[in-house]
Amino acid sequence: MKVFFKKSLLVAVMLGGLTSCRHDKPNMTYMPDMHYSPAVKAQEQTRWNSKTRVPVEGTIPRGYHPYRYSGQPEKAGQMLKNPLRRTKTVLNHGRDLFNTYCIVCHGKFGEGDGYIIPKYPRPPSLQSDKIRNYPDGRIYHIITEGQNLMPSYASQILQEDRWAIIHYIRVLQRAKKPTASDLKKLENW
Ligand code: HEC
Repeated sequence: MKVFFKKSLLVAVMLGGLTSCRHDKPNMTYMPDMHYSPAVKAQEQTRWNSKTRVPVEGTIPRGYHPYRYSGQPEKAGQMLKNPLRRTKTVLNHGRDLFNTYCIVCHGKFGEGDGYIIPKYPRPPSLQSDKIRNYPDGRIYHIITEGQNLMPSYASQILQEDRWAIIHYIRVLQRAKKPTASDLKKLENW
């Protein structure tokens, strides 16, 4: 009986000791090194946390060109020229981007029959005479700023990539309505 009492006292003391243990901090840390990271809450501003630092006023990131023709689609069409040459690499890249960003609404050939139509309102065809006659800069403007229901893709598609997409749209247009010289090339093919 005495032994049993002693044993249960021991267990009680041990249990009591365990419940008083704090689990959020070890009592002793062997080589703490990176144990305690200086955690920062989302959006919290600190002196040393570069992620949440606001850029110095009046500065832009390297390689970024501010868009000058905001709200001026006509002017963008007149002033902006496609800086990319129509190489195979550029066209392949344009195709991949079109099939990533535009195809869902505009469809494989830009005819407004994308996968999410008619759940989303049908966009006008990119095969129209209107878009065929739009200068590249005008289409660049639409990708950059959006147009009515179409959202802006400025934050998702790099400036140079937008020009590659436009070259690819021209390919789609010529595929549907080849020029006389395109047909001649096909004959010889
Ligand atoms: C979420 C669906 C959606 C996506 C994705 C989308 N568009 Fe559009 N797009 C529209 C709609 C809707 C319109 C018609 C807007 C309007 O009423 O003026 C439109 C209009 C356009 C027009 C003008 C057509 C015209 O006749 O005025 C062009 C050019 C165009 N889009 C190009 C693109 C390109 C290039 C991409 C990919 C970078 C793209 N769109 C992605 C929905 C989309």
